[in-house]
Amino acid sequence: MELIETNLALNQRIEALRAAGKTIGFVPTLGALHDGHASLIRKSKRKSDITVCSIFVNPTQFNDPSDLKKYPRTYEADSKLLTSLETDILYMPSVKEVYPSDLDTAVHVDFGNLFTVMEGAHRPGHFDGVVQVVKRLLDIVKPDQLYMGQKDFQQFTIIQHMINELKMPVELVVCKIKREDHGLAMSSRNERLVPSIRERASIIRKTMIAVKRKIKKKPFSEIKEYATHRMTIPDFKPEYFSIVDGNNLQRVTSYEDSDYIVACTAVWAGEIRLIDNIILKHE
Ligand code: PAJ
Repeated sequence: MELIETNLALNQRIEALRAAGKTIGFVPTLGALHDGHASLIRKSKRKSDITVCSIFVNPTQFNDPSDLKKYPRTYEADSKLLTSLETDILYMPSVKEVYPSDLDTAVHVDFGNLFTVMEGAHRPGHFDGVVQVVKRLLDIVKPDQLYMGQKDFQQFTIIQHMINELKMPVELVVCKIKREDHGLAMSSRNERLVPSIRERASIIRKTMIAVKRKIKKKPFSEIKEYATHRMTIPDFKPEYFSIVDGNNLQRVTSYEDSDYIVACTAVWAGEIRLIDNIILKHE
């Protein structure tokens, strides 16, 4: 694996690979890599000729400065994992490379209500930062395929919207959620769960599966009540549970309202905020 830290070096490398007819797959990350990230790398290895992974703890997407400070930086382990997966290039730019002071990196796209619901409602400014960094990284890496996880449903929906609006020549490949044995969606935050809470965190996945089973039989208002109630156990507190149209993330109230329906949730487990989702209908 080649470690590259500057845009200039990366551009030269990518241009040479392109000239040799290679397709480029790109997996952007914040580091602290786990098997969820690894599944994206594996997918890219299967589908694209060359796999570029970036590790960049993007300051503009952290609405809480202490979160940015606390974000785990585990370069040694990350680098080892990426090497074992035969990642071709690890791109680790500095803040100056991504946001040079003489470059306007604002993204001028109308996102409608995509930023104001679910994660956006609880993390003000977060998606402005995500969009800004992903646009910038796409401009730098210029990949053919971009790999993102279904785990962050709202995030990939917003990025797909940006790609469409700006007519960017990249294919977004969404990879399914990688889970721990008991169903908890993998996340770097899981390491911070105390064992007694981690053991019971499978309630989120269990509830989502039960929701899918009930979706055609009960009114959505009742399902929401059921899910919220079931995930309210000692140490656990749902922040939201929303059933939305997978295209525009707006609330749907009945099964016939859309051909693409997803349930998304964020749940506090002790001090840790966990997110998950399940596709209920996709025709
Ligand atoms: P990060 O949280 O590091 O996640 C990087 C990618 O891994 C995202 O596309 C995310 O959806 C995916 N991912 C995380 N956990 C997963 C799991 N359990 N199964 C499958 N995929 C999973 O998301 C970000 O970083 C940042 O916002 C970023 C897009 C890099 C912009 O800074």
